[in-house]
Amino acid sequence: MKKLLLLFALLAPMSATAKAPTLQITPQPREIKLANGCFNVRGAGFNYDSSLEERTVNAIGALADDISAATGKMSSVAIAAGVKSSSEAAKIKGIYFLKDASLPEEDYRIEIARKGVKVTASSHNGFFYAVQTLRQMLPVGVYKGKAGGKWKLPCGVISDGPRFAYRGMHLDPVRHFWSVEETKKYLDVMALYKLNRFHWHITDDQGWRLEVKRYPALTEKGAFRNGTMIGRDFGSNDGIRYGGYYTQEQIREIVDYAWERGITVIPEVDLPGHMQAALTAYPHLGCTGGPYEVWTRWGVSEDVLCVGLEETFGFLEGVLDEVCELFPSEYIHIGGDECPKVRWAACPRCQARADALGLVSDEHGTREQKLQNYVTARIQAYLADKSRKVIGWDEILEGELGDGATVMSWRGVAGGIAAAEREMDVIMTPNNYCYLDYAQSSDLESEPLGIIRDPKRAVTLEKIYSYEPLEGLSEKAAGHILGVQANLWTEYIATPEHLEYMLLPRMLALAEVQWCAPADRDYARFHAALVGHQQAILSSLDYHFRPEE
Ligand code: ACM
Ligand code: ZN
Repeated sequence: MKKLLLLFALLAPMSATAKAPTLQITPQPREIKLANGCFNVRGAGFNYDSSLEERTVNAIGALADDISAATGKMSSVAIAAGVKSSSEAAKIKGIYFLKDASLPEEDYRIEIARKGVKVTASSHNGFFYAVQTLRQMLPVGVYKGKAGGKWKLPCGVISDGPRFAYRGMHLDPVRHFWSVEETKKYLDVMALYKLNRFHWHITDDQGWRLEVKRYPALTEKGAFRNGTMIGRDFGSNDGIRYGGYYTQEQIREIVDYAWERGITVIPEVDLPGHMQAALTAYPHLGCTGGPYEVWTRWGVSEDVLCVGLEETFGFLEGVLDEVCELFPSEYIHIGGDECPKVRWAACPRCQARADALGLVSDEHGTREQKLQNYVTARIQAYLADKSRKVIGWDEILEGELGDGATVMSWRGVAGGIAAAEREMDVIMTPNNYCYLDYAQSSDLESEPLGIIRDPKRAVTLEKIYSYEPLEGLSEKAAGHILGVQANLWTEYIATPEHLEYMLLPRMLALAEVQWCAPADRDYARFHAALVGHQQAILSSLDYHFRPEE
């Protein structure tokens, strides 16, 4: 199998069998027009517009360095002097990266002639994606600066840009913790396939992973649990203390690292449920007062924040103040999923709050659901004052939520469709297509222990590829679908190898769902590119993936 992969890698990126050569680029570019001839990249000079951002020049420089190392001939990198962005590729010598403000934000265009290559884009992301496409057009050695293959680009024009502006991938560092280096490797593979949002689920019942200076006990006590349940045995505990957290310095490092790669980090502080680790640190913020312990098992805890207590809001605001300082993202995710209401129903303070608000159960929702709507709206208003918008899981729709929040539809597509029809913005992440903690094959015995037991719920590569995010939506509502995301919860995933196995290659199928117009999606073509070229790229970068043949 490995040998076969290597053979394919040598043939790639051109498919040897097709009459017209086919580039094996993932996600498939919008338009590729190939012509006769090639451009030789060996020793080619790289030139860039002086107006490009430093991070863009870094990405261009890294490509030039890798080509130099692989071909043994130095490629220079310099500011393009005296070249107007209107010049044609045929008239220039070398590779030019020139700004074209008329292109949509994340689009790019690559024109390849025998003597010159012209790359245009209007933003960092556009140029960054052009660099990813150029890399995928070269022998796989380009990723590690290794020799082998033909260092030529076929002449022609590639004109490309994404279907959706929001192309997300989520990671759960709570159930199992991922180091800064592991997180960067995760971001690297997202960047390779042109994803641009990293949803980082940094707080939950089983651990608080974010350093908050004003509330040090969150990480001193809340970041570590006294053991973890074994396998599926909810009554067990391995007795091994487990945990970790990210210092504010490390968080800034991750945010910067992602930004260099065109990725915005969206932090999630899940509230008012999924707060048992925080309650362990500050038990007076719970309805019963505790004591609580950082949870050692999976599931949905009934212990949630007491929202009758005014101090709870002071706490959340203090946490969110620091979150906003650390994360420059337009959106802050405030969770809202799986918040049982049993404690609130029995809590005099929560009941007094519901009375004061005049909340009653009716056809729109229960009194306690409306209490959660109050929490969502209050936090949403607090963040709006800081010019931030909120994202919440689709449970925030239960009751009588006002507008303005963006809904992340995870319990299938119904919540997302209902919200979009109400003209709320939506990110689609339906569990039946986009939950990458679900097994990749219906032969559950052959897969690692995971969260699903029903083989019919497997999310195969073909299944995620088949997802059409705008199905079932009116044209007006379709305009409210910001994009698509897949989620990777880690209850049953404890090692980086297993994490990558669950991510790959399904994230490549996700990338085409996010990037390509429906007419450009073709599973057979995608699969051929995966087997013929993309798996070799992933192998060369030491990713673990579920191999396809
Ligand atoms: C979720 O999977 N609880 C959003
Ligand atoms: Zn309460």
